[in-house]
Amino acid sequence: AAALFQHTALAGKRVVITAGPTREALDPVRYISNHSSGKMGYALARAAVEAGARTTLVSGPVHLATPDHVERVDVISAREMLAACQDLAGDCDIFIACAAVADYRPATVQEQKIKKGDERSTLELVRNPDIVATIAGGQPRPFTVGFAAETQDVESYARGKLERKHLDMIVANDVSAEGVGFASDENEVCVIWRDNAQRLERAGKLTLARQIMQLIATRLDAARM
Ligand code: CTP
Ligand code: CA
Repeated sequence: AAALFQHTALAGKRVVITAGPTREALDPVRYISNHSSGKMGYALARAAVEAGARTTLVSGPVHLATPDHVERVDVISAREMLAACQDLAGDCDIFIACAAVADYRPATVQEQKIKKGDERSTLELVRNPDIVATIAGGQPRPFTVGFAAETQDVESYARGKLERKHLDMIVANDVSAEGVGFASDENEVCVIWRDNAQRLERAGKLTLARQIMQLIATRLDAARM
């Protein structure tokens, strides 16, 4: 069973959470994106407020109400999300990257609507910056938490991301399982840090968010001793 929820676990702490998808423009009317609903990130923001933290959501375009007492910064593209996070990172104790950032963006954005032409067409894409790795590599460096949505070898891929991005913790989530993940209200995750891992049973996203925030609070204390 989960430990009792501590309403002061993060009292006085500043938490920044990325949430939702990013959109990468092709032309004035088209973009590349994904199906992220933003629900997990918004649930985390609510749980952070409940735990006493001053909480900011850096949010891609979603159809969700801002949780009470959460400051919300709206962004569209990955590069805008990075800029907003860098502005906030200097004054933040905990950074949680829950957004489904588009890995690539179109190499060029056309100023006018693209006209159709040949039967076949190719699109050149370029890599977006890695937001959570950038924040984890910055100075000062907040306690940094990532998410990993995988469809296979969940734990080993997630551990790889933890190492590569120099994260303090990663929340791994098997999106091939039924009834969990992107659009769903439920999730089933494994929280991994360098020297340990803990599975959290399938539950509503708010329940999981509360458990994740408590684990973060515990690890944050441990990291400071
Ligand atoms: N992330 C990020 N910036 C990016 C891509 C990902 O901050 N440009 C963050 C996500 O918010 C998440 C973590 O990195 O916390 C892992 O995202 P994921 O898409 O699972 O990993 P990638 O490193 O992009 O690897 P891949 O998509 O190839 O599995
Ligand atoms: Ca990715």
